[in-house]
Parts: sequence; structure tokens; C-alpha cells
Amino acid sequence: MTGERLNGLSLPACAMHQIAEVMVTGLSHDGRGVGRHDDKAVFVPDLLPGERARVRIDRAVGGVLQAVCLERLNDSPQRRRPPCILAEHCGGCSLQHLNHAAQLQSKTGLLEQTLTRIGGVGMLPEAIHSNGAELGYRNRAVIPLERTPEGVLRAGYYRKGSHRIVNMNQCLVLDPRIDALIEPLKEALETSGWSVDRHLEGAGGLRHLALRVSHHSGEILITLISSRSDLPGSQAMAEHWLERWPSVVGVVLNQQDKPSNTLFGPTSTVLAGRDWLRDQFCGLDFAVGCDNFFQVNTPQAEAVALQILEDLPSAGGLVIDAYCGIGAFSLPIAAAGHRVLGLEVQQASIALARRNAALNHLEERCTFVAGAVADHLSTHLAMATAVLVDPPRKGLDRNVRNSLIEQPVPRLLYLSCDPATLARDLKDLTAQGPYRLERLKPFDFFPNTSHVETLAVLSS
Ligand SMILES: C[S@@+](CC[C@H](N)C(=O)[O-])C[C@H]1O[C@@H](n2cnc3c(N)ncnc32)[C@H](O)[C@@H]1O
Repeated sequence: MTGERLNGLSLPACAMHQIAEVMVTGLSHDGRGVGRHDDKAVFVPDLLPGERARVRIDRAVGGVLQAVCLERLNDSPQRRRPPCILAEHCGGCSLQHLNHAAQLQSKTGLLEQTLTRIGGVGMLPEAIHSNGAELGYRNRAVIPLERTPEGVLRAGYYRKGSHRIVNMNQCLVLDPRIDALIEPLKEALETSGWSVDRHLEGAGGLRHLALRVSHHSGEILITLISSRSDLPGSQAMAEHWLERWPSVVGVVLNQQDKPSNTLFGPTSTVLAGRDWLRDQFCGLDFAVGCDNFFQVNTPQAEAVALQILEDLPSAGGLVIDAYCGIGAFSLPIAAAGHRVLGLEVQQASIALARRNAALNHLEERCTFVAGAVADHLSTHLAMATAVLVDPPRKGLDRNVRNSLIEQPVPRLLYLSCDPATLARDLKDLTAQGPYRLERLKPFDFFPNTSHVETLAVLSS
């Protein structure tokens, strides 16, 4: 192709910045349209299957091309106007331009393809579980902050593929009770005079604003994540927020001074109120802290918990809840009559899991152990009737898979937030190990994003 003019600029006739016409035939796992150009896969954000577009190819990475859409030549019938006006730019959601029914279809299809391609899994997933609530579902947000040279405070998620904040006053996927706080909190932080770090660099001040709401009780926790511990006037401001918003039960200052993608640092100080909120999950009481893992879509996670209870063997035996967090699944399992051993690496989560067991008078049926699953699992497997694993995106460590293969349990439930690592692990557990896949059930935990949660149930 010869050079083309774009925005008045002459572009070189080389692969990079080449203009091409592409027909999109699929969606990638991260929500980008996928087509072909010059016998290579080309990934283009914001395009849907069935759409043809003029694109600019910007990068070639590992034999695939990455492009941006210059002009869409037709619209998919499944395209819609995104509910959020920032959707085109904000990196928080990648599928707002696809109607919700088509999102569900696409997630099930992608799950099936990934499991077949990577895991050799022959089973079709069951229908994806959705409660239809595609907006207002997230009970938690951790929002990056910045200050312009003129002193204006900006808050928002990063623009797709960059570290530039898309300034927002509202985020439609957030629970409206915390969404309503974004704008007034931004105003308060702007007038505070506190400086803000840039791209997690420096030790000047604020980095993130974290909000968490209890789906059932409505209690709210506000956390300021900062690289320095002294924010002048912060206690008075926090007390004022508690008076102004009765549902806010605590304001916490978390110190994170490492230039790291780990959002929360190790030290938290209460500025006003308390550093935990009261929640319910499956009808049980929970104390949840500002930085513990707790499922962000409460009703959908409760639907998973019910499915887990249905798929466990009859009550009375020992269930190991590996990667148990603060006990969100351990406690409903114990309440159903099982004994539970929870394993979790974060000390603070284990402390809350114990406290939550006591809160519900379940401490006699629950034991919680702090440490890596890989270090503790094999010691207890011989006694277990079932194991639930709910690992982070990277899936199960090789030695965790090996322990489960060497000492098979009658029932293994695997809750996964990443189809690719689930596929790899299922392959090991079923091909090298003694397990049979009994059920694959996806759940729509994160509408308008490309993420999907899947429960796999295996027997040996
Ligand atoms: C996806 S969350 C699941 C938590 C819990 N099942 C729930 O639903 O609330 C994964 C949890 O695993 C913990 N974790 C990560 N790596 C771990 C490891 N190697 N050993 C034990 N726990 C780990 C994290 O701290 C986090 O609480």
C-alpha cells in the first residue's frame, strides 16, 4: 500500500501506521474486534463481529497486529449506544457498545472456545447465569487520581491502553450509593490542597480513592490511598464526611509509597469511624475491611454460593476452601452442615474470616489457616470430601495441581475468573489426573466488561 494521508499527515507505506480495511469476524477475550489482514490476526478495540472498518495498524506484537478504528463502514445489529458517555475512551468497560444479550452470548462462546483450544475440554458450558442487572452492580471502586498543573483534581480510570486518566464524575457500573459520592469527594479533595502523585511516582500525596458499599446494609467505607501518611486536616475532613453522609461508617488512610501496581499498602489508619463495614452474604453477617478481597457483585456471588452448596457432597464431611479470603464461601458451606478448612495467604483476611465465623456462631465448624495454598493443601487432602478452589487470575500453581492429582478428592469445585488458566488447569486435572468434568457454569459477574466467572465441578 502506498502512503496515505491521515489528519493532514502523510503516513509511511510500511506495516506500522498502515491504513487497511478489515472485516471483523470475532471478539477477543478482552473485548476487541478480531479480523485478518495480510494473513495476520488484527485486533481493533470498539469493533464488533460483522463490522467492516478502515483501521490504522499501529503495532505488531508476537505475530498479531494491533490497530485503531478510523471509520466504521457498517454497524452490527447487536451494536448499541453505550449507556455511559465515557465508554469510548474509558478503559474500565470494554463491551458497553454491545447489547447485554449479545454480551452474554459472546462470553459463553469465548469460554467454550478457550476451554477447547487450550484445555481440550469437550463439554459445552451451561447457559450463563445473569440477573439482568448490567449497571449499578459493583460494590467497590478504586479510582486513580491526578492533579493538573492548574490544581484541578481529576479522578477516573485509565484511557484504553494508556496511563492517562479519563476524568469522570459518575461510573454507571458502580452501585449508585457510592457512585453518588464521586463528585462531592472530588470537590473536597480538590480544595484540600493535598498534592497527588503522578503515575504512582513520587511521595507527594494521594494516589487512589477507594469506595466500598455493603450491598445489603448500605454501609460505606471511604479509603484514601496515599504515598504519605500526613495529610493535613484529613481527620477533620473525614469527620465532616461521616456527618454529611450517615451511610459512611468509616474513612481510612492507607499508605502505599511503593511505585507498584499493588493498590493498597500495608499500613492503614482510621481517620474517622471504623475501618470495616457490616455486610451480609447468603443471609450471614460479615465484617469486610477496606482492602480485603470480597466479591464485587454480591447477588451474582450469592448465586454462585448456592450452586456450590448444591454441588457439594452431603453434609458432615470436611470441605477445604482454598483461597478463602474472609470466608465468603466458607461460612455458607459451614452453615449447611459441613466442616470447613479455609486457606488464605493474607493474614488480615484470615483474621476477618475467624471473626466472621464467630459472628455467625460457626467457629466450631471452621478452621482458618494463614499461608500459601501450596504449602498447606497436601497435608489436609486425605481428610477432605471436597475442595473448593477460587484462585486469582493466574490459576492454580503447578504444585497445587499436583497435590490434587496425587491425592484426589471425591469432589473438586473450581471457581475461576480467567478462562485461559481454567482451561490449562482442567487439562492437567482431567488428562493427567483422575478427575471427570461434571459441570461448567458461567456467571455474568462483570457486565459490560469482557470478564467472565466460571464454576467447574469435577469428580474423581
Ligand atoms: C479470587 S479471591 C477469592 C476469595 C474468596 N474465595 C471469596 O470469594 O471472597 C482469591 C484469594 O486468594 C488469595 N490468595 C492469592 N494467592 C494465594 C496463595 N498462593 N495462597 C493462598 N491464598 C492466596 C487472595 O488474597 C484472595 O483473597
